[in-house]
Amino acid sequence: MTLLRSLCLFLIVGVVPAQGQEPILNFENRFLPEVAQHGMVAGPERLAAEIGIDILRQGGNAVDAAVATGFALAVTYPRAGNLGGGGFMLIHLADGNRQTLVDYREMAPARAHRDLFLDEAGEVDRNREFFSHLSAGVPGSVAGLIHALENYGSLPLKTVIQPAIELAEKGFPVSFALDSEIAARESRLRKDPEALRIFFQKDGSRHPVGELFRQPDLAWTLKQIRKRGRDGFYRGPVAERIVTNMEANDGLISRDDLAGYRVIEREPVRGSYHGYDIVATPPPSSGGTHIIQMLNIMEGFELEPWGHNSAAYLHHLAEAMKLAYADRSRYLGDPDFTDVPVAELTDKAYAARLRTLIKPDQATPSAAIKPGAELGYESSDTTHYTVADRFGNVVSNTYTLNFSFGSHIAVPGTGMLLNNEMADFAAKPGVPNAFRLIESEANRIEGGKRPLSSMTPTMVFRDGKPWLATGSPGGSIIITAVLQTILNAMAFEMNIASAAAAPRIHHQWMPDQLRVERGVSPDTRRLLEAMGHEVVDTRRTLGRTQSIVLDGGLLYGATDSRRPGGWVAVY
Ligand code: DON
Repeated sequence: MTLLRSLCLFLIVGVVPAQGQEPILNFENRFLPEVAQHGMVAGPERLAAEIGIDILRQGGNAVDAAVATGFALAVTYPRAGNLGGGGFMLIHLADGNRQTLVDYREMAPARAHRDLFLDEAGEVDRNREFFSHLSAGVPGSVAGLIHALENYGSLPLKTVIQPAIELAEKGFPVSFALDSEIAARESRLRKDPEALRIFFQKDGSRHPVGELFRQPDLAWTLKQIRKRGRDGFYRGPVAERIVTNMEANDGLISRDDLAGYRVIEREPVRGSYHGYDIVATPPPSSGGTHIIQMLNIMEGFELEPWGHNSAAYLHHLAEAMKLAYADRSRYLGDPDFTDVPVAELTDKAYAARLRTLIKPDQATPSAAIKPGAELGYESSDTTHYTVADRFGNVVSNTYTLNFSFGSHIAVPGTGMLLNNEMADFAAKPGVPNAFRLIESEANRIEGGKRPLSSMTPTMVFRDGKPWLATGSPGGSIIITAVLQTILNAMAFEMNIASAAAAPRIHHQWMPDQLRVERGVSPDTRRLLEAMGHEVVDTRRTLGRTQSIVLDGGLLYGATDSRRPGGWVAVY
């Protein structure tokens, strides 16, 4: 069906390329994007993407659709769609041609402190960090979605939340993807009695694929939000259930923490790459800062003659990644608690100095790379979806519980999983975290602080207009997945489906390993090894982008088709 629709639209639009531009659907690229005229939602799950499109059909704008999809994913994509987590929403507003970033990242409870996850020997207790009530930050998703709707949407909350309520109440058929997501986390989910009750049948077995999956408690929570807006979650009966559960399990989230949760609108970080303008997520995410830093480094090299995914290209890319992630380890944290030198890190002159550290045919050992050596500055399962509407508004949203199914702990009577975002802090500065990222005092635990993130909703502008919007899950891999997807489109002129599906690499400075997807040729891997890279073969895709390109009055969308369940809904 999808392929047929793509081919039909290809036949329709392929003969009328946008004026003065290369036809975007060309046969040099192996994958073809979906195409639409009026609106598009590219996301990880079909029902929620289609709900976004229904909202657009009713006359809603991209923000209305993004909020509706966000609430719906909390029902249909429980591994990462959520009410109990947080994220970042990058919004382009056609009116005024401006962008804003809604930061609804979780906040550490007021009583959280630096040594929260250290045991008596001073070592990190990973179980407490990842899978306990202490793992949860104060959720931001409900406040963030409502903030976006109230400030930039056009429809009432009750309209955009209603489809999610119906899906939770009436149920929806279990898909192959949902079943495999639950199966992958089955043993851990079973450990929590409430998660066991929510995600498994009465006899304890998994719901068969195709059978209806109902979530009445989640429907109740959503109805509280429908009735009382933000207060329906952060005060009153839902808040009481969260606090009761915290108090019974040595958790820290209090009534005051919930009532005091703050959404913050921030100015996105901005950069450029050969005439394209990049607008991306600022701290407390590290994503946008380092995407721009790496693009600045790569801008000084001629990529085209090397060729896409050639050893020379991948070597230089990996070296740029190492330099950027080394800086991440030292400087990045919540800007409300620590000075983050974003302007310095995204400065083209700084990138030029870093570029001189890259040897053309030899890997520099990570141990020899010192964070900020050239800076001259001193001080200190996630999901993404993208929405575009016919008015020219674009939304790029990444939100998460952190791990797939978060801490795997559900709050009794709410249908809601707790995030384990507190694990994104440096439990012990200098010791690698869950994503093997090393972080500094800048990201130590403090009450009221937001843990450092890698989530990177990103937009690329051409001639002052939005051209590409994307983002990805994947923890530390998010930043490099987004980087390669936009480089594929900008530097190698791939259509967005090919850009999404092309094999990727990842290096994060420490550990000193170059992770390489299987689609990179063994010959190339051998050349990289000969340059001194420790190449590690990865079976999983590195990230999973959901992207939309706006070109010549049409919308072109792609989900990274190498993971199941993704969907581009069109209108
Ligand atoms: O904010 C972050 O960077 C992480 N909590 C994201 C986690 C993630 O992407 C897991 N998904 N695969």
